[in-house]
Amino acid sequence: MTTPTSSCLLGDDLPLASLSESQALCFVNQDERDRAWDLGIFYLAIPESLDLEGARSFGLTLLDQDSPYRKIRQYGDFEGFIALENNQQTKLALRRCHWDRHYPTEIAAFGRMLDAIGMVIMRDVLSHAGIPEPCWGEASGGYALGEGTAFLNFVHYDTSTSNEGLRPHTDYGFVTILDATKPGLQVELGGVFQDVPVRPGYLAVHFGEALRYITAASSKGVSAVRHRVLSQEASNSIRNGIVYFANPDLDGNLVQFDSHGECSSQSSVSDFFGLLERQLTQ
Ligand SMILES: [Fe+2]
Repeated sequence: MTTPTSSCLLGDDLPLASLSESQALCFVNQDERDRAWDLGIFYLAIPESLDLEGARSFGLTLLDQDSPYRKIRQYGDFEGFIALENNQQTKLALRRCHWDRHYPTEIAAFGRMLDAIGMVIMRDVLSHAGIPEPCWGEASGGYALGEGTAFLNFVHYDTSTSNEGLRPHTDYGFVTILDATKPGLQVELGGVFQDVPVRPGYLAVHFGEALRYITAASSKGVSAVRHRVLSQEASNSIRNGIVYFANPDLDGNLVQFDSHGECSSQSSVSDFFGLLERQLTQ
């Protein structure tokens, strides 16, 4: 497979969205929502109620080698303080069920605010997909009803290696909400990697494989956007990020409904994620 080249054709021309006072996801018009669904990525204005500065400050404390948060035990392959192999990304990753135990109270509360935003986005996607509302919980492995699972991760990039920042991939889950204050994120569009500039006052939201799958038989599906993070150099200031993943329960199911509420296909989450993992490592 050839490696897509890189460019900055995208500039800052990504669809913009915001949350209304009634917690509805708003785009300037339907064309922009459609464009976001087709690209699999958009910018979301940071809600005033979200204490992002507090969360960023917490993330910076993890750079201290003596931080007690670097000693949080690993739960399986995906949780704990983890340095990825062959990637610069290093992270403290925790599922929702472990937030109260390990994160400071205000960070666990911050995660629950991202839960609320994730649910708004999910329910907006399912609504515009024409999938009947009674099917939403089953379709999303519980996430659209406030169940499922979610990760709240604090990441930074270790420049003591020259590895890629984060290798090209699509996210496995439904929705990813990203706060990054430094450049490096790129998305692949038309076979070309393009910069996603940091846009002050906005988060980047992108869609993953599970959301693509559950909307694929509907009247408006979404794309899962392939993306990467460029290798960070030691001369750059350290790239920190906050990443929230909206996911199904890992021991649940994903169901693909059409706009009549008929099931077209379904998969256990473990089989679905396992297939994605094999494709990624081939
Ligand atoms: Fe990702």
